[in-house]
Amino acid sequence: MTETRLLLGHAAAEALYGELRETLRTLPFVPSLRVLRLGEDPASVAYVRLKDKRARELGLKSAVEVYPHDLPEEALLERIAELNGDEGVDGILVQLPLPPHIRTERVLEAISPLKDVDGFHPVNVGRLWSGGEGLFPCTPLGVVRLLKHYGVELRGREVVVIGRSNIVGKPMAGLLLREDATVTLAHSRTQDLPQVARRAEVLVVAVGRPYLVRRDWVRPGAVVVDVGVNRVDGRLLGDVHPEVAEVASALTPVPGGVGPMTVAMLMANTVKAALLRRHGAFR
Ligand code: GUN
Repeated sequence: MTETRLLLGHAAAEALYGELRETLRTLPFVPSLRVLRLGEDPASVAYVRLKDKRARELGLKSAVEVYPHDLPEEALLERIAELNGDEGVDGILVQLPLPPHIRTERVLEAISPLKDVDGFHPVNVGRLWSGGEGLFPCTPLGVVRLLKHYGVELRGREVVVIGRSNIVGKPMAGLLLREDATVTLAHSRTQDLPQVARRAEVLVVAVGRPYLVRRDWVRPGAVVVDVGVNRVDGRLLGDVHPEVAEVASALTPVPGGVGPMTVAMLMANTVKAALLRRHGAFR
């Protein structure tokens, strides 16, 4: 049996950081990222710290604004309006999930599409699906970049995405379509999910259920991308059972697969937002 190839996020992310450093060297300004966090959810605290750290390591300007979990929605919207108008800020990211008294849609729609480095604003969602230039969600961008780094062809391939979230599954399907893949977007109500998954030459799993995907869900030789991050008894488990390595030709580890790519693509989006805004493209 041939070895299953591991698709390593840190290696692909390093290649992207190298490209971004080259781009930054040519710019007469330093792109800047502003991250807003409400409350002290431990996962959000850790993610925001990592985003800030990577931005600084790359040489971007980065600042984190922390607010109490009971910050009124209006106050958050006012702060976003200020940052939209701040010439010194290129990218704005509001860490999710937000507390229940805040309407997430209102907040995401308040961020200027030009500074929307998460790619969650409806204008950017529309651009993703209409084929135009825009800012697109970091995790699905990271998956495409990771696959390209390892030479996985997408054009004309049978790709199945499991999971239909706004953050991963739906934009993943849109980006894969832009890569000329044949895309099936499956989810918890899909009939005979294992059989649908078995059609995939490339299988992307973003559900949030530990070890959902078993060996018999995977076509022999398929490339499997595990976007799952499930904390179980202090361990980090993917959505894909480790036994899948027995049939897949390539597989992303958890952790160390998609995760590092998400953060790297946020940096790429910040640089892209800075360029798009200054060059007047993308109105
Ligand atoms: N929480 C989990 N994933 C994400 C993400 O991609 N962006 C933001 N803003 N919050 C998140």
